Amino acid sequence: MRILVIGGNGMLGHSVVEKLRALGHEVVVGGRHNADVDVDISSPESIREMYEAVPNLDHVISTAGQTTAMPLADMKPEDNDLSVQSKLLGQVNLVLIGQHYLKDNGSFTLTTGVKKDDPIAGGASAAMANGGITAFVKSAAIDLERGLRINSISPNIVEESFEQQKEIFMGFTPVPLSKVSDAFVKSVVGKQTGQEYKIYS
Ligand SMILES: NC(=O)c1ccc[n+]([C@@H]2O[C@H](COP(=O)([O-])OP(=O)(O)OC[C@H]3O[C@@H](n4cnc5c(N)ncnc54)[C@H](OP(=O)(O)O)[C@@H]3O)[C@@H](O)[C@H]2O)c1
Repeated sequence: MRILVIGGNGMLGHSVVEKLRALGHEVVVGGRHNADVDVDISSPESIREMYEAVPNLDHVISTAGQTTAMPLADMKPEDNDLSVQSKLLGQVNLVLIGQHYLKDNGSFTLTTGVKKDDPIAGGASAAMANGGITAFVKSAAIDLERGLRINSISPNIVEESFEQQKEIFMGFTPVPLSKVSDAFVKSVVGKQTGQEYKIYS
């Protein structure tokens, strides 16, 4: 299968790329820097150019998308825009545009995160994006045509990221990165659609 992993140079994405390549799949990495194909998911035009540059895709995975982390009391509408334009609409637009490019029976796998279910201070903007993606995936699954599937992965903080973020995730028990990347593989190679895989323990 030919699989595009947007964010494939990052912590989660790199692990997913390695697993898919080990299974013999052809993987193309997307991102803004040092990627096989340049894309900024916050720009619909950039997404269109990416799909034109990488034809004959079976599956698309997104482990990309930025969010704002700051106290709600300080947050202004414009501070929230990053989460909306990048993690929320960026991933939604990968599907809205990509549905016309993927081969029959392909799939989309998007990324959310534990903050929507287990709130942390300063996490409201990320939680908003995560919740929006979850709802979109559930509904989009019944509308997608040509056998296209869609799922989302909601990881807890992973062990490999915990040291850097332990102050804000104090009291959380991190999960192995490998367990999270397994869920992405399951979404791609399996047959399920409209699912949310929560990897919280
Ligand atoms: N790490 C964790 O423990 C954890 C836990 C729960 C949820 N998550 C979620 O999982 C996702 C990935 O996390 P991560 O830790 O792997 O982050 P990361 O290491 O920062 O990787 C993110 C990747 O996405 C790319 N990217 C970011 N913004 C982009 C954009 N606008 N367009 C295209 N590519 C973009 C980055 O590459 P460029 O900068 O080159 O574009 C980078 O390769 C995030 O949504 C995060 O909230 C992570």
